[in-house]
Amino acid sequence: MVSAREKEAFGVYVHWPFCLSKCPYCDFNSHVRHAAIDEDRFARAFAREIETTARRIGAREVTSIFLGGGTPSLMQPQTVGTILETIAKHWRVDSDVEVTLEANPTSVEATRFAGYRAAGVNRVSLGVQALDDASLKALGRLHSAREALDAVAIARGCFERYSFDLIYARQDQTVQMWRDELKLAISEAAEHLSLYQLTIEEGTPFFGLHAAGKIKTPDEALARALYDVTQEVCDRHGLGAYEISNHARPGAECRHNLVYWRGQEYAGIGPGAHGRLDIGGTRYATSTEKRPEAWLMRVEANGHGLLVDDRLNSEERADEFLLMGLRLAEGIDPRRYTALSGRPLDPRRIAVLREEGAISVDEAGRLRVTQAGFPVLDAVVADLAA
Ligand SMILES: C[S@@+](CC[C@H](N)C(=O)[O-])C[C@H]1O[C@@H](n2cnc3c(N)ncnc32)[C@H](O)[C@@H]1O
Ligand code: SF4
Repeated sequence: MVSAREKEAFGVYVHWPFCLSKCPYCDFNSHVRHAAIDEDRFARAFAREIETTARRIGAREVTSIFLGGGTPSLMQPQTVGTILETIAKHWRVDSDVEVTLEANPTSVEATRFAGYRAAGVNRVSLGVQALDDASLKALGRLHSAREALDAVAIARGCFERYSFDLIYARQDQTVQMWRDELKLAISEAAEHLSLYQLTIEEGTPFFGLHAAGKIKTPDEALARALYDVTQEVCDRHGLGAYEISNHARPGAECRHNLVYWRGQEYAGIGPGAHGRLDIGGTRYATSTEKRPEAWLMRVEANGHGLLVDDRLNSEERADEFLLMGLRLAEGIDPRRYTALSGRPLDPRRIAVLREEGAISVDEAGRLRVTQAGFPVLDAVVADLAA
């Protein structure tokens, strides 16, 4: 059964595109600036793009807001306050709205947490990445493990809800090392952890170093063992995976990210932000200019920074539904796929994948990827969508 909240969910994503330095593994839309950033000007541009989007799509009730980056914890709390007030000026906001801010765990940023709380943020997601200093150095991070744990403690004092991210499958990481690190992480994380396997992204310094053999990532067997121990330790401590890389106690899932994975509607605000908007029965896939200053000028000239504003046809919608929905432990309702695409999933392919143990189908007909299927999720989705 789909709850009322699921049906009516509407998220707003706001992208802050600046960082103090660029981490060598990261291909997110993040930029380093050595001159001061005119936050007031950016705040006005965010407000303008929110207003334009609200005019275009009309009334909605906002159920989640996510301030992501980049490093949103470099913003002054006042800038965050302006963004949240603007959202509330143009849309109704659910009394139980989830407002997450992504923060880097340095001591300077932690001093702003109380200000974010006062501005209306009620959840933080901290990029801890690793709990030992040698790994943090290898990842090019600017904080120590102690500093990160101190930031987690400050977050615990300021917010009812917080989460933190770790990157695993790092160079020289053994299963035992990861098991111990994970246990420490769980003792510090109240309700939610995002655990990402290190991905070597093209165009990053890590890509070149990896190609040159200067960085080694685990082979397939070790990567699988690291994945399996992640599931085992998290399950044992009540933090089961509700999405391929996200673990939470029941009820503590990130509502905003569920909007993406359940194929619901969200507005993307800021440089390089993506959105999915429903207008007159049609779904639009939007994305904005990525370069911060170019985005600013577009918004000041046109009221928005959109570069992509595509109508999705039924096939595209159905594929996206499959791609996103199968990441979730709750899986998908195949009838929704049929409704979107106009044709059912191929029963022969479903039968083969079930036989292989990659998917399961329950009595209500919900289709889920199994623990054995998650490490080969891309292949499972490609097979079902073919
Ligand atoms: C938008 S990013 C950054 C948030 C914040 N700026 C930070 O670094 O703490 C969100 C998360 O993606 C993960 N991430 C980024 N690049 C990755 C990569 N190449 N492989 C695995 N995880 C990655 C990190 O865990 C990071 O915290
Ligand atoms: S990982 Fe975070 S801090 Fe590092 S460059 Fe990416 S967005 Fe910025």
